[in-house]
Amino acid sequence: MLDGKVKDSHYRLMYHITPEKGLLNDPNGLIKFKGKYHVFYQWNPHGTVHKNKTWGHVISDNMVNWERLPAALSPSEIYDKDGIYSGSAIVKEDILYLFYTGNVITEQNVKKSYQCLATSEDGIHFEKKGPIIEHPEGYTRHVRDPKVWLDEKGTFWMILGAQTEDLKGEVLVYRSEDLIHWESRGNINRQKKISLGYMWECPDLLRFESGDVLLISPQGIKAEPKRFDNINQTGYILGEFLDSGEFVADSFEFTELDRGFEFYAPQSFQDGDRTILYGWMGAMPNDIEQTVPTVSEGWLHCLSIPRTIELIDHIVYQKPVEELKQLRLDYQKLSISITNKDEYKFTTNTPYNEIVLNFCNPTNGFTLDISGGFFIEHNNKENEIIISRINWLTNEMEKRIGKYEGELKNIRIYLDGSTIEIFVNDGSLVFSSRYFVEKKNTREFIFKGDLRGIEGIVYPLEFQT
Ligand code: FRU
Repeated sequence: MLDGKVKDSHYRLMYHITPEKGLLNDPNGLIKFKGKYHVFYQWNPHGTVHKNKTWGHVISDNMVNWERLPAALSPSEIYDKDGIYSGSAIVKEDILYLFYTGNVITEQNVKKSYQCLATSEDGIHFEKKGPIIEHPEGYTRHVRDPKVWLDEKGTFWMILGAQTEDLKGEVLVYRSEDLIHWESRGNINRQKKISLGYMWECPDLLRFESGDVLLISPQGIKAEPKRFDNINQTGYILGEFLDSGEFVADSFEFTELDRGFEFYAPQSFQDGDRTILYGWMGAMPNDIEQTVPTVSEGWLHCLSIPRTIELIDHIVYQKPVEELKQLRLDYQKLSISITNKDEYKFTTNTPYNEIVLNFCNPTNGFTLDISGGFFIEHNNKENEIIISRINWLTNEMEKRIGKYEGELKNIRIYLDGSTIEIFVNDGSLVFSSRYFVEKKNTREFIFKGDLRGIEGIVYPLEFQT
């Protein structure tokens, strides 16, 4: 478990990345460098509000056990004095390159953003190299979150989240041969066919043999029945990224990556053949954010567990990375085996659990109540999974709905002290959420409904020595 405020928290998280204190938001600079996984994250060390952003830093051999390092980048220069905003990492000739956005508010209260570079030989100490790109014409100062990758021909690419002067979300594209000099390639959405909200944050491009996935976190999409219910959402569009820098979408369908309450601003990285992604848990309206129960303890938010991403038959699958299985306390595992019953209860003596459920027969629908604080419902008529929780501010029930394709085959649930991540049908439908139940170290599970054919295993989770 990481050190800091979370250790003494009533809502302790065991295996999620948390800040030592203060506020964490987006994952940044994800990379494997010299044999270690590096995760950086947006971090306000001085409080639980969105100010003073630095890059917090943790490293690991296995994405399970993490060691905390000092903040990698903090505001210090005229081009980043009001915040080191989100960005990414890449390795070239054994040097780690970090690209980030410097946030600046001038004395005249004009806001500016600079796309900056910092490098490191050891992955611990970083040297700032300053801004590397001119602010593009025709865009407001909302240009940020550089994501960099290398293509198979040896060209480096960068994409930036941006807002046009007529207040539309966009992604800008640049290319480079050396990571220092960047040539503009215009915007990724040349035909202007994708129109979503007023600003696109944290763009990412995930490349697979069967196609490319453009991931964006747009602000300003209006809620629709059963979708886009969060303050902002992250989603993807399938298509092909061309050498010209254009993304040609297959269809213009924008699919939410995660149907839970607050998953946002994810970033991917390449680990050999695997594409791995972390998200932030998460984005919420300000008034609600400031009443999250951990705020009074001096810390706020966490990252999601790492997920491998696959694109199969035009469907994006997210699966918890295999390494997390190291947390399973195999000798304490519990089998769930229900036949012809309409209620099934069990209790675990830890809040940290992984639950694997397999559905051998189509069920007529069921509910799962987790310690009276979080509820999962299967609506077999609509092919829907519905999650709900009691909102800590309003005391009202809130819910999110996701549709699965075909039959319900399996559900895998990762529970930490105050997070739940639910992977339906091999991760083709995912829900991530915070939940805050009574300050207890146990969890009670109650299944009700048509439980025929449900089988499963519950693994208590713990760091193994
Ligand atoms: C997304 C975001 C980014 C920005 C960062 C600032 O959550 O708004 O666009 O770089 O957070 O913390």
